Amino acid sequence: MRILRNLKLTLLCLFGSSALYAQQTNITPVPVDVVYVDADALDIDCALKLYVDRALSSDDAEHLVAALERGDIDFKVVKRPASRMYLNLLIDNEVSANEGYRLVVASEGVTIAASTPAGLFYGIQSLNQMAAGAETLPCVEIEDYPRFSYRGVLIDISRHFRTKEFIMRQIDMMAQMKMNRLHLHLTDAAGWRIEIDTYPALCSYAAWRTPATWKEWWYGDRKYVEEGSEGAYGGYLTKEEARELVEYASERYVTIIPEIEMPGHSDEVLAAYPHLKCTTMPEHQGDLCVGKEATFHMMQAILDEIIEIFPSEYIHIGGDEAGKSSWSECLDCQRRMRQEGLTDVDELQSYMIHRIEEYLNSKGRQIIGWDEILQGGLAPNATVMSWRGEEGGREAAAMGHNVVMSPHGYCYIDAPQDAPQTQPESIGGYLPLRKVYSYEPIPETMSEDVARYILGVQANLWAEFIFEDDHYEMMLWPRAIAVAEIGWSQPEDRCYDEFHRRALIVVERMQQAGYKPFDLKNEIGDRPESLQPVEHLAVGKSVSYIAPSFYYAPKYAAAGDATLTDGLRGTWTYADSRWQGFLGRGGVDVIIDMGEVTPIRSIAADFMQICGPGVFMPCLVEISASTDGENYEMLATIEHEVVWDELPSYKSFGWAGDAEARYIRYKAYRSSFSGFLFVDEIIVR
Ligand code: ACM
Ligand code: ZN
Repeated sequence: MRILRNLKLTLLCLFGSSALYAQQTNITPVPVDVVYVDADALDIDCALKLYVDRALSSDDAEHLVAALERGDIDFKVVKRPASRMYLNLLIDNEVSANEGYRLVVASEGVTIAASTPAGLFYGIQSLNQMAAGAETLPCVEIEDYPRFSYRGVLIDISRHFRTKEFIMRQIDMMAQMKMNRLHLHLTDAAGWRIEIDTYPALCSYAAWRTPATWKEWWYGDRKYVEEGSEGAYGGYLTKEEARELVEYASERYVTIIPEIEMPGHSDEVLAAYPHLKCTTMPEHQGDLCVGKEATFHMMQAILDEIIEIFPSEYIHIGGDEAGKSSWSECLDCQRRMRQEGLTDVDELQSYMIHRIEEYLNSKGRQIIGWDEILQGGLAPNATVMSWRGEEGGREAAAMGHNVVMSPHGYCYIDAPQDAPQTQPESIGGYLPLRKVYSYEPIPETMSEDVARYILGVQANLWAEFIFEDDHYEMMLWPRAIAVAEIGWSQPEDRCYDEFHRRALIVVERMQQAGYKPFDLKNEIGDRPESLQPVEHLAVGKSVSYIAPSFYYAPKYAAAGDATLTDGLRGTWTYADSRWQGFLGRGGVDVIIDMGEVTPIRSIAADFMQICGPGVFMPCLVEISASTDGENYEMLATIEHEVVWDELPSYKSFGWAGDAEARYIRYKAYRSSFSGFLFVDEIIVR
């Protein structure tokens, strides 16, 4: 029997057939092609005879044997390929795709062939997944290779330091999911995290603060303290530890890309070495002075040490979110701009990135930076990591620059992954596994010529609010698995329901191995109200907005004037084009025209509160009704004490009773918290 997996996948998506599930290999990310050869199976209850191709270096051979040891297959190493119960790892240049592999399970044994050691490693990952807890392996022929060469995760150890051991655990899991780039965010205002000999205060001072929690520190005085002083919170990787990490990762075919932020996000550098500040500097300004040569001396010396530790071709130089405000006042920056003929501060930033690129290129390395490095002109060989959406990525690719896609709306997994009121405080709107998985790195409108510059995709886990390691793991997994599958699998093979079924298996195995992934099995999922349209008397009725100052904000217009009576309820997030956001002093003040005098039993609308981004409940709601549009009768006055809360909440403000009305006025007042009111629908029954 030969069943092509693509056909099976289609059937699974259409019918969710459990008969078809029974024969699944359950490999994640889903392989390119799986052919079930016959109904036979290979018994793996006694040891397989492992033959490792002599063409492999002894290091690679060792790493591959170690990878097998991490799985459930029992094996012993033999000198020549066996004829029965074999497990052959073969270098075969006919398996052309870099990192690709062919895995054949026959009733006599297993062969994994690849043209690269990394390919063999990924074949082993697939085999380990098939063998997990199994006594037999189905006879299959798998051809598999990655869609993208870059499949990454960003781990932020600046906001809260994490140990080498913690990072190693995540590398292990990344490698199982065939991810190959770990972007380590090593430096940021919250702490410098890598030992640098030439500038020792980066570790003895800039790596330590006293308030451990982000908010106390960030909204407090943002001070640093000496290492070893009372209450000092922080840490850094020694060079020795960083080298161990590099080695550990490379044994799993993962490259660590170090990020050294410049010119922005460098508050901690300036705290330790204030001579790099601009001549005038506002408080809490974290940009290096680009006018001073000392800045370049220091950054280049740091990069010299970084490239000595990290063999990665790419060095991430940050480049994001520089405030640039001090540069227009600074005498040194101004002099630099005059001397170099730079017309604005964007060009000054670009000047710095160009110089740093030239420096790193001269050492045989390439730069990668956040998409702001496009501002003022992109350095000639730079790769762009597109985070503020995909626009930067598209622009860079169109100019022939390599791009890694990591748009915040899909890849910023510091956002809550389930009903936000059930999740720890975090940044951003609801970002469930399904939404991450729906991301497509190559926009439909992009031509093939441009698309070839898209190297891949990356999940970013920023850590401002993530204090505990377990919490970090919970945020990372399983959403990073979705990114792994986006990076590896073919787009036509992606099906969320099928992925979800396999993700549950991965999560369960992770739990058995002591990881703390998000408990996907008990996911609440989308806001129930948002799943289907709501029927009520006001659907499709016209809404007039009373005063211009009460109008909704253009960015959160949702469906414009139709929003509040379109029958569509919002999701957990206000950025879903269903919630309408009201800024301005007034609040919400609208009149629904029912078209004719109508008997009415209830009027209600939901509001949400997410204090972090400034979304609050109203402090007062007035609901009134009129038959003639002139004389209104107050139906309800609802007071509400708005209090700051870390967790999001959703609340209905309504009236129930008996009335007749053609016009319904719904008025919600903002509390003393400045910020938004968000409302999705005014439901009239
Ligand atoms: C970023 O999130 N500022 C890259
Ligand atoms: Zn300056």
